[in-house]
Amino acid sequence: MNQKVIGTGQREKTHTLKLVLMERFQQGWEKKGLSQELSLRKKQQTRSVAILGPGRLGQAMGRLLANAGVPISFVAARNQAAARRAVRFIGEGTPLALSDPRLLSASVFLITTSDSAVAEVAGKLARQGKGAETWRGKVVLHTCGSLPSVVLNPFKLRGAAIGSLHPYQTVPSPQAGLRNLRSCFWAIEGEPRALRLARSWVKLLDGVAFSIPPKEKTLYHLSAFIVCPAVVTLMAQAASLLKQAGVPARISRPMLRQFVAEAARNFQDLGGRRALTGPAVRGDWATIRRHLDALQNAAPEFVPVYESLLKAMLALLNATDNMSLDKW
Ligand SMILES: NC(=O)c1ccc[n+]([C@@H]2O[C@H](COP(=O)([O-])OP(=O)(O)OC[C@H]3O[C@@H](n4cnc5c(N)ncnc54)[C@H](OP(=O)(O)O)[C@@H]3O)[C@@H](O)[C@H]2O)c1
Repeated sequence: MNQKVIGTGQREKTHTLKLVLMERFQQGWEKKGLSQELSLRKKQQTRSVAILGPGRLGQAMGRLLANAGVPISFVAARNQAAARRAVRFIGEGTPLALSDPRLLSASVFLITTSDSAVAEVAGKLARQGKGAETWRGKVVLHTCGSLPSVVLNPFKLRGAAIGSLHPYQTVPSPQAGLRNLRSCFWAIEGEPRALRLARSWVKLLDGVAFSIPPKEKTLYHLSAFIVCPAVVTLMAQAASLLKQAGVPARISRPMLRQFVAEAARNFQDLGGRRALTGPAVRGDWATIRRHLDALQNAAPEFVPVYESLLKAMLALLNATDNMSLDKW
């Protein structure tokens, strides 16, 4: 009996000791995790960021970067109300006009204006500040897919490092960007210091960064154009044909989404040639002729698009004489 009491006491002591050790171990880890988190924030906080031209992409990037610990100090727009709206969405930063001299206290500038405004905004801003020292040590990036970073040369001439980072992603609204800019692919180019910063941001957003030669940016951007807005246009046309065929939008939209997602998946798994299906692959010219007759009635303006796509499909299939265009 006595032995049993001593045994229970020992077990309790051992149990208490284990609990104390576990608690200390956990506290140690929490402390370590917290200090890692703090040092990450501190590291990122050494570079204050200004976002210029906060539209759909600028706002989404601003909020994602802010959430990842990058300090967004200023959000500047040509319209003050737009700057204030963007700050509300991003969750931090001071809204400013593009000509506000306070902007110059930032160390990183992210230009997210529409493509045609990048050079103009860059030119005006680079002239602000006195002497070359204003821009020395700073980094300026833009997010335009078709322009190289040399459009930011006015900053380079004043000592800043210039670069570009472009997400291969579609951002129809800032909210959509919050969902889809994480883990996506980013083309980057520019000077080493700008590239290092761009890479670190892509990493913070769990994305994949890859280099693009500056002189190939238009070609690169063209590739995005023919799969994204072009596919959306084709889907809208398909939805319109389905509507004329009596299929309502509540069915056609999810149906088209599922269909295109499957085609995209097959493309990734099999490549273009093997993922192709449909009458062009089968050499089913009677069906193609019926398509063209129906299209002539339903959407005659789309006939040249159909014919061009058919030609492109045949080229992808390395069409033989048996499957040539004069069959229809
Ligand atoms: N959205 C996408 O899917 C996507 C994806 C990848 C890359 N990008 C690139 O990201 C950049 C922005 O695209 P976005 O879709 O976010 O465009 P957006 O929503 O139209 O926003 C463009 C912003 O630029 C400002 N802006 C236009 N002209 C200006 C000027 N002359 N001076 C000062 N600001 C001016 C607009 O200001 P106001 O509000 O005053 O008009 C607006 O804030 C583009 O270079 C685009 O190629 C976009």
